[in-house]
Amino acid sequence: MRHFPLEPIETAGVDELRSLQFKRLRATLEHAYANSPVYRAKFNAAGVRPSDCQSLADLAKFPFTTKKDLRDSYPFGMFAVPREQCVRIHASSGTTGKPTVVGYTRADIDLWADLMARSLRASGARPGDLVHVSYGYGLFTGGLGAHYGAERLGLTVVPFGGGQTERQVQLIHDFRPDIIMVTPSYMLAIADELERQGLDPARTSLRLGIFGAEPWTNDMRTAIERRLEIEAVDIYGLSEVMGPGVANECVETKDGPTIWEDHFYPEIVDPETGKPLPDGEFGELVFTSLTKEALPVIRYRTRDLTRLLPGTARTMRRMEKITGRSDDMMIVRGVNVFPTQIEELILKRGELTPHYQCVLTREGPLDELTVAVETRPDLSPGSPEATEAAATLAHEIKTYIGTSARIELRPAGGIERSLGKARRVVDQRKL
Ligand code: DLL
Repeated sequence: MRHFPLEPIETAGVDELRSLQFKRLRATLEHAYANSPVYRAKFNAAGVRPSDCQSLADLAKFPFTTKKDLRDSYPFGMFAVPREQCVRIHASSGTTGKPTVVGYTRADIDLWADLMARSLRASGARPGDLVHVSYGYGLFTGGLGAHYGAERLGLTVVPFGGGQTERQVQLIHDFRPDIIMVTPSYMLAIADELERQGLDPARTSLRLGIFGAEPWTNDMRTAIERRLEIEAVDIYGLSEVMGPGVANECVETKDGPTIWEDHFYPEIVDPETGKPLPDGEFGELVFTSLTKEALPVIRYRTRDLTRLLPGTARTMRRMEKITGRSDDMMIVRGVNVFPTQIEELILKRGELTPHYQCVLTREGPLDELTVAVETRPDLSPGSPEATEAAATLAHEIKTYIGTSARIELRPAGGIERSLGKARRVVDQRKL
């Protein structure tokens, strides 16, 4: 279901793609080495020069870049152009300390708008559609990234941003948007608010949702698609690499985001050793930007865990839907647990809703995992059905994930609502 022509590179042969990538990679390495003192020092310390890169595989000789490099050079120290040539700054708020700051030249902003337009088109948007943007505007890249891409593709944008859920619903009802762009967890909060206002979520004007900025499972996709009667596609990105639109799912296949590889070269590495892994193997996703000016990133470690898959709707490779981020991994009595594993099991229980949180506490020497989850609005947490659902959930967590968990049922509204990224893990062990 392609609405209009793709860019030639989206369907070019693999050889053409690889040779373009190599050409751009060399230029990026040279640009970083010549213009960013931080990269020059890192390359020198590792004993590599841009000319040592004679093939795409040679990229593995170059040192990784991490969030720490950006923090250490706060705010603008890693930029490869004078700050005066940047037309925009974004930042992502760290959990502790200083934010990570990124900059964009005019050409970078232009490229981002182009890639977001490409992402929107892959999602099934077309010129003339009305899009309601609920990603936050401001230093977060979600709102403005979506906004520029939508304008570039010729959509009508409602730049709502996050929060004021009651008013979001009013405008969705009155303006009749075709598309919504929002985090999946906040989509659920909007759906709840629609119901609260006596509106049927399945009968809005929306036909498509473009969801990302946080991990969400395929079961969550199905739940959202059914409840809202829309197509739900996955958009991936991170501010250090650009923002949203580094990769985006194609609506005709919905089989994991296609990486816009002509601008971002992906690798998967072993998270422990940093050794590159072949396509198809699970590990940490690493990106090298191929065309960025203000802040080229060389082998940036995303901390996101996934694997690379061959192209389907496009020549470019896909990444498997991200279900784990090393920051979110809980280790409960030696067992590694990701919130998305719990999400999958919650979604199997019709008595429960996907409003949930994993709370870690320590009882004496042992870690305890409590899964706090809301029951369906019409079902009291004390009811026999809810109690049975909780027991089944605990049993399945033990069986499929291998850890004991206490289930704490809460009434509708009992789990804090995020206006953007949901907080799935509450670690009370450090308190
Ligand atoms: O979240 C950019 C974005 C905005 C992406 C809107 C999609 C939509 P950061 O705040 O820098 O940027 O956070 C980046 O969020 O490393 C992942 O851990 C996570 N993430 C982003 N998209 C997805 C996704 C934006 N589709 C971090 N699935 C990334 C899973 C995602 N995790």
